[in-house]
Amino acid sequence: MSVFIDFDQAVYPFPPKPASLDADQKAFYRERIKALLVEKNAVIVAHYYTDPEIQALAEETGGCVADSLEMARFGARHHASTLLVAGVRFMGETAKILSPEKNVLMPTLDAQCSLDIGCPDEEFARFCDAHPDRTVVVYANTSAAVKARADWVVTSSIAVELIEHLDSLGEKIIWAPDKHLGRYVQQQTGADILCWQGACIVHDEFKTQSLEKMKAMYPDAAVLVHPESPQAIVDLADAVGSTSQLIKAAQNLPNPSMIVATDKGIFYKMQQACPDKALYIAPTAGEGATCRTCAHCPWMAMNGLQAIAAALEGDDVTHQIHVSEQLREKAMQPLNKMLKFAESLK
Ligand code: 13P
Ligand code: SF4
Repeated sequence: MSVFIDFDQAVYPFPPKPASLDADQKAFYRERIKALLVEKNAVIVAHYYTDPEIQALAEETGGCVADSLEMARFGARHHASTLLVAGVRFMGETAKILSPEKNVLMPTLDAQCSLDIGCPDEEFARFCDAHPDRTVVVYANTSAAVKARADWVVTSSIAVELIEHLDSLGEKIIWAPDKHLGRYVQQQTGADILCWQGACIVHDEFKTQSLEKMKAMYPDAAVLVHPESPQAIVDLADAVGSTSQLIKAAQNLPNPSMIVATDKGIFYKMQQACPDKALYIAPTAGEGATCRTCAHCPWMAMNGLQAIAAALEGDDVTHQIHVSEQLREKAMQPLNKMLKFAESLK
């Protein structure tokens, strides 16, 4: 049994786009960043949704390009004293919670996430207080304060397995904040889930009718869908999974082409994984309508070369992630449980 509660849709302020750079400027910043990484004993921890040039730079300099779970693991394990997290705010906070001794920098602290914005900590705490009999499971895309209120943190790559496990122990769940992932996990596991009604502005924009038309245009293509997408899109999928799982699916499925319903930043690594396959982004704009994000997270796009250089350059506190020790200790517990659980699945 599942109960879904409706909350008012939060208003998401759109961030400014980073200034575009010409080829000489790009080359200058790339070299500057490489020198600063060595000088500051720093490493880049980048998400698949950042722009291809950021992912390429992370790879070239010994950093990582990964999903949110692997970013957390890599940052905690790496010997560098500074982590430059190219992603969104919750990823920087997660890195700091797991590695308090490290200096965690972000190109901009304004790189938000609509799921995080849509789940304010005090409102969420009241929601949990109203259901004390439920185990609180929050998606990694949340603030440190929301994590601190949770029993478990989880990422999309292990969400089904964790909820299956908790359900087998007879636990009833509060799931937050993504309503689509919550519904997907509920359908996969049959668990009793009470779900917060947040959404990702990027995945929420994929359009069913246009996707059906695209499938008809490319009958040999497999459809790959991130579970933050609406039900009707998931229903058209040949594979549903986290970013890293979608890359594996693109590699393993026999189809010569893929229609991909997630942020198009993923194409950089997906094309590396299967160079001979054609990759198409799933349609985001319906007939006569316009898309707002056009399959690229506006906050991920803030991680430009110039901003990375600025973050590494100075002692500028506007790039530094801080989490109070009291909050960190609380948020670390459900995060560590997630990491241990992920290990147990290997
Ligand atoms: P992953 O955990 O699959 O990397 O997804 C994070 C995210 O923000 C998806 O929109
Ligand atoms: Fe958040 Fe969606 Fe951007 Fe991922 S793609 S960081 S869920 S807004």
